[in-house]
Amino acid sequence: MYVAQPISWTASGVVMLDQRRLPAEEISYTYTDYREVAKAIREMVIRGAPAIGVAAAMGAALGIQHSSANSVAELRAEFAVISAALAETRPTAVDLFWALERMNRKFDSLVAASASLAQIRKDMVAEAQLVHFEKKATDEAIGRFGAPFMPQHGQVMTQCNAGALATAGIGTALGVIRVAIEQGKKLHVLVPETRPYLQGARLTAWELLKGGIPLTLITDNMVGHFLKTGAVKAVVTGADRIAANGDTANKIGTYQIAVLARENNVPFYIAAPISTFDMNIPDGQHIPIEQRAAEEVTHIQGVRIAPDVHAAHPAFDVTPARYIAGIITERGVARAPYLDSLGDLAANPQPAISATH
Ligand code: MRU
Repeated sequence: MYVAQPISWTASGVVMLDQRRLPAEEISYTYTDYREVAKAIREMVIRGAPAIGVAAAMGAALGIQHSSANSVAELRAEFAVISAALAETRPTAVDLFWALERMNRKFDSLVAASASLAQIRKDMVAEAQLVHFEKKATDEAIGRFGAPFMPQHGQVMTQCNAGALATAGIGTALGVIRVAIEQGKKLHVLVPETRPYLQGARLTAWELLKGGIPLTLITDNMVGHFLKTGAVKAVVTGADRIAANGDTANKIGTYQIAVLARENNVPFYIAAPISTFDMNIPDGQHIPIEQRAAEEVTHIQGVRIAPDVHAAHPAFDVTPARYIAGIITERGVARAPYLDSLGDLAANPQPAISATH
């Protein structure tokens, strides 16, 4: 089955597929400067929480690789600047900060082991590649744990794009759907277009079409209608940040889908890696919500569709944990009460909770 490749580390630099141009054009860029990577994250050349994490790790490695520092002390000072530039790109997706912390830990361990500058450069690149490699394995495990929650046949709904484009693996929510289909389930995916940035219409529709997975594209204001009348058997979405109590930030519009799913007795699942947990914050009220440009609401792909009025663009909303039937991770499936189940999964590298209904 087709798997999109949003990012890769190559000998000439970090290659990214420009997701802003999809589905019309498949254009890639090769970046050799960490500042270009930071700009690409901010401007959504690459997006989706886990893929942003991979991009940040590769950006950090690129910065180290191309640094002109002559001593470890100089490199350390420069790495702080590199990390800060990457950290300032998008505030909600916690995978970004997770990846930067991991790269910083690696740097510290190399310095503690008295590694040479050349060795630090080499090993930091290897660490970024490992982050990417692990994302693929993580997605596959999420898919395996999540597939039993998909119906044997019928309609499922998602939101935004939580596929390969968003993770640099097989996807989280779309990974669950993909594995279920590979196991023989006959699923049809309802894809809300996901205004204003249209990740559903542009990216999920493109990915599912290329993967041969049947879908129907709907507008966001059709969600309630289809949850009521469309025999939808499950909803599965990704996440950008999951608080300790299970409250989950995901693409704007997810909250209303979760509430309407509950109203219509449709189970609503989150599929996300452990790197999306933020156990440092007690609940969703503490999740920073990215506010993006009003032009992304008043314009579609550069064409004005509204008069010159004030427009709001919170890029994410928070779904309270009580609407979530289960949080599917690479270590198992957390169920309410989430404070306990997420804590167990975060602390235990072995699957602690099995994927049972
Ligand atoms: O603004 P985006 O496109 O980066 O938002 C993406 C989402 O909200 C995804 O659902 C989330 O990051 C999970 S991706 C596996």
